[in-house]
Amino acid sequence: MNKKHLQRLDLIFKNEHDTEQILEKALARPDDDLINDLISSGLKGRGGAGFPTGLKWKLTSEVESDEKYVICNADEGEPGTFKDREILSSVPHKVLTGMAVCARIIGSKKGYIYLRGEYKFLKPQLLKIIDNFHKLLDQLNLNFRVEIFMGSGAYICGEESALFESMEGKRGEPRNKPPFPTNSGYRGKPTVINNVETLAHTYSIFKYGPEKFRDLGVQDSRGSKVFSVSGDTPIPGIYELEFGMTLQKFVEDFGDGDAKAVQVGGASGFCVPRKKFDKTVIGYQGKLTGASLPTGGSMMIFNSSRSMYNVLHNYLDFFVEESCGQCTPCRVGTQQLLLGIQAVKKGEQSSSYLDKLMELAEAMRVTAKCGLGQSVANSFSSIVENFKEEMIY
Ligand SMILES: Cc1cc2nc3c(=O)[nH]c(=O)nc-3n(C[C@H](O)[C@H](O)[C@H](O)COP(=O)(O)O)c2cc1C
Ligand code: SF4
Repeated sequence: MNKKHLQRLDLIFKNEHDTEQILEKALARPDDDLINDLISSGLKGRGGAGFPTGLKWKLTSEVESDEKYVICNADEGEPGTFKDREILSSVPHKVLTGMAVCARIIGSKKGYIYLRGEYKFLKPQLLKIIDNFHKLLDQLNLNFRVEIFMGSGAYICGEESALFESMEGKRGEPRNKPPFPTNSGYRGKPTVINNVETLAHTYSIFKYGPEKFRDLGVQDSRGSKVFSVSGDTPIPGIYELEFGMTLQKFVEDFGDGDAKAVQVGGASGFCVPRKKFDKTVIGYQGKLTGASLPTGGSMMIFNSSRSMYNVLHNYLDFFVEESCGQCTPCRVGTQQLLLGIQAVKKGEQSSSYLDKLMELAEAMRVTAKCGLGQSVANSFSSIVENFKEEMIY
């Protein structure tokens, strides 16, 4: 298959050797200028929720506290996502630069990279790079140190408040919100927590200015995005592409010619069937025309040989396993959804039972305590609605 026309961008992965210069230049500028650049670039968090990064830094900078933290979320637990590993392997200096500039702006002396347990193999090389980076910070008179904190392989610990709990030595269980991390994060102190990719993008914005970033993408979804492409594709891998692409274009570029569905955003994202490819745009939900779907980066392609019942079964197995069990809608709901689709598939329940299960999933969206339980309905309802015939006996 000829994929030579594929338009890949090279902002994040371009291996630039000017960290010292970019950091020095950024640190010489007033905090407000740097924040304004981030805000006008339109950068939104790449960890999934899409909160504007400049605003997050600004809010944290405005809180009075003698202790603040910058945390890089490298837990990367969403099924089908593997781009943060690559960013940390190939351009870690960009992530560290973003953390250091953030630290200066908010007034933090301490940062952490919360590294997914399975990425332990990255730790030795990262420690060396952090060590050299500290020398550069000393030269530039910035009192900031970065440490690595190892995660232990729980998906829920990627959720920011569960991540703080786990760093504090407690069970990784999400907290009630508010308060938000900008006011009360790690150790109850104001904390900026950003995804690996978000921090790497700030480097490009400080280097090239906000316009170059803003010129990419569409409306409320500016800049480039790093995608992890997997499933039925002849070219699985990591690609930096512009926001705003239709799924039709995406499957033309990445599919095997027989794509019947794309799961956008991993197990907690949405499943789009072939008939909706041309009407669905990849970007944050908001003012885009037609349906737009956000993604932390995971793009899974399924061709006609795949059973969507099995796909949904796998996702529910995952949620049952990863639910922290703290709140009833999620702890019990995930199990009931799994038992429910099994019963329909075996013919023990009629197909109308699927409607009841969708009601349960929607109830979880409004009653579950955190994003894990709230997002189960995304994949559940979109798979059941679009592939009902595959769910029944
Ligand atoms: C269940 C769950 C898992 C999450 N896992 C991650 C993760 O692995 N990495 C990540 O950056 N954000 C993850 N998030 C989102 C974080 O809570 C948080 O929004 C993000 O780190 C903020 O960074 P950003 O603004 O740069 O996106 C997860 C959220 C939920 C609800
Ligand atoms: S929604 Fe699920 S993961 Fe989140 S707090 Fe409740 S039980 Fe835990």
